[in-house]
Amino acid sequence: MRSRAIAIVLLGLALGGLSAWVIVSQSPPNGTLATGKALVGGPFSLVDASGKRVTEKDFAGRKMLVFFGFTSCPDVCPGGLQVIAAALQKLGAKADKIAPVFITLDAERDPAAKVGEYAKSFSPKLIGLSGTAEEVNAAAKAYRVYFKKVPGTDPANYNIDHSSIIYLMDESGQYITHYPYPITVDELAAKLEQAL
Ligand code: NI
Repeated sequence: MRSRAIAIVLLGLALGGLSAWVIVSQSPPNGTLATGKALVGGPFSLVDASGKRVTEKDFAGRKMLVFFGFTSCPDVCPGGLQVIAAALQKLGAKADKIAPVFITLDAERDPAAKVGEYAKSFSPKLIGLSGTAEEVNAAAKAYRVYFKKVPGTDPANYNIDHSSIIYLMDESGQYITHYPYPITVDELAAKLEQAL
């Protein structure tokens, strides 16, 4: 099924491009132009591996690197998290200024403890977050993340198509920029270093 695989890759690229385009072309509504704030990101309320309620305010004072996915993702999420982990390692002590956050899109199969463990398997710095389906949907909506359940061979074995964009937020949780994945470790590390 090689052609199907290629079609999926092309679809992924198109969707990734589309979501990037939506972000770039999104202009603030009338009256807020002077603030220059992008309409990506916003308040979220989720749960960390220890069961603690976590909002964007818990990361105030640090930049936030935000990536969405799910723990049973076959390729995009592990690849993206590997790149994020390696880029942070490359930044050394400077990486302490960044809180890297992985938010699941799969509330049903990804309880917070599982997401936390999964995130930590890539880097001890990575914070995995989950929540109820409503909380996860709200976070994804705030970040304009595209995701869609794709049925598999049985009801428990579904996949989730999702955009793969790494968001950089400032010390007060406001959007700075985003990095479409795939991106190399060196590229991401260089861009983060520049943004710090
Ligand atoms: Ni994924």
